[in-house]
Amino acid sequence: MKPISRRAVLTMGGLGLASTVVGGTGLRRELNPSVLDPAAGESFTEPEVLRSQGGRLDVRLEAAFGTHQLAGRQARTMGYNGGVPGPTLRLRPGDTVRLDLVNRLEEVTNLHVHGLHVSPEGNGDNIFLAVEPGRTQRYEYRLPDDHPPGVYWYHPHHHGNVADQVFGGLYGAIVVEDPAEELEVDRERVMVVSDITLDRGGSLVTPSTMEQMMGREGELVLLNGQRAPRLQGRSGERERWRIVNACTSRYLALDLSGQEPRVVGRDVGRLARDGALGDVVLAPGNRLDLVVDLAQGSSELLAQPVDRGGMMGGMMGGGGPSFGGGGPVTLARVEVGSGGGPGRGGIPAGPSLRDLRDAEVDQRRSITFQMGMGGMMGGGGGPMSFTFDGQEFDADRIDQQVRLGTVEEWTIGNDSPLDHPFHLHVWPMQLLEVNGQEVAEPLWLDVVNVPARSRVKVRVAFEDFGGKTVYHCHILDHEDRGMMGTVLAQ
Ligand code: C2O
Ligand code: CU
Ligand code: CU
Repeated sequence: MKPISRRAVLTMGGLGLASTVVGGTGLRRELNPSVLDPAAGESFTEPEVLRSQGGRLDVRLEAAFGTHQLAGRQARTMGYNGGVPGPTLRLRPGDTVRLDLVNRLEEVTNLHVHGLHVSPEGNGDNIFLAVEPGRTQRYEYRLPDDHPPGVYWYHPHHHGNVADQVFGGLYGAIVVEDPAEELEVDRERVMVVSDITLDRGGSLVTPSTMEQMMGREGELVLLNGQRAPRLQGRSGERERWRIVNACTSRYLALDLSGQEPRVVGRDVGRLARDGALGDVVLAPGNRLDLVVDLAQGSSELLAQPVDRGGMMGGMMGGGGPSFGGGGPVTLARVEVGSGGGPGRGGIPAGPSLRDLRDAEVDQRRSITFQMGMGGMMGGGGGPMSFTFDGQEFDADRIDQQVRLGTVEEWTIGNDSPLDHPFHLHVWPMQLLEVNGQEVAEPLWLDVVNVPARSRVKVRVAFEDFGGKTVYHCHILDHEDRGMMGTVLAQ
């Protein structure tokens, strides 16, 4: 497997693949008229909430293709329990969740609870299970008593059709409440951001092979399945927004000018100190826990375009903006009237966070994202290969064997001209360094972006749960094409 060379790029041009590309990853594409006919302005709604009681939650989740209300119209997509997104699960540390996944699709699927610190074995968060059409699989998750609070999510994880199924509408939020929470708010909202492409008739459009290799981005960017819904509040009220980036490949740089949002949590747990929204970019799979003290006036929650490299731009030294025509996308409109009171003052501090920088490290490893010209690979992967260290995913191979109860340091490299978000199941990662730049405060994530031609360093405490699971690129098209490896802790 050879690294991508300039010559390889020309070859791709020869195959006609480069013809749709304009600089960076920007795609030249005629705008679907439905994009210009906004269903924007509906009032904000949230998926149904299923809340645990007395330490238990029993859920039936039915995955099906059908007619769903999306972007203010009837669309033919996938969905859980008849909606996009699926229901929000609200849990507490120590809970046991019994979940029956019913597969009413015409293809195999399964389920993953992204970010939850639960066992990957048996009928736990076992992504090696395959649920055939017409079958029901019972999953059972037991959250430890000290499970970190925060916003997590669920989605299918059957290797080979993850991107199609998430893009198609299969995802939902999970909130793990904090029994010790001191932060009081007037309103809490769950916001699942996703993207999808529909044709004029409201049917799902499958992106081209080229788009899939870049990581598909849908033409419609949705918030809880709505286009730019309207949120209302009164000045001085405090809201808490639990935001999930459920997009298949799209990165989100959120912007809420006119308001002063404060970040109180990233993927895992509450932050010790709240921070500015500033440079936080949500890679696919990342979440954000935001506190907004409403100020009077109207503002927009925007997703600014993010340059995540390009097959052409990166190699030719160009770069430039990525998908989406380069412009910001309005996710929601916020209308704040007067009279909500004087405001709530400062945000209480969170608990101080665990810091693995002083921990004894049992093993150091390096794992590197690679894209190469792989010839016409099997599995319909297209002319490029997507690997870690030159090896495509093989469920039967153990790529990293770690000793349960130890701390490891992983250096994750990226030899390619595209950014890749690195995701590890079950055990959260403490981000230590990005390209040699130290991260000053403890930061715990389960998806860490590794910029093009860069490296990041993380530490992981492999504890509580043994078993076999995976790490992968959370650009789900890349994961489906082989950018995934296995880890066995025992
Ligand atoms: Cu959100 Cu392995 O996935
Ligand atoms: Cu995950
Ligand atoms: Cu990737």
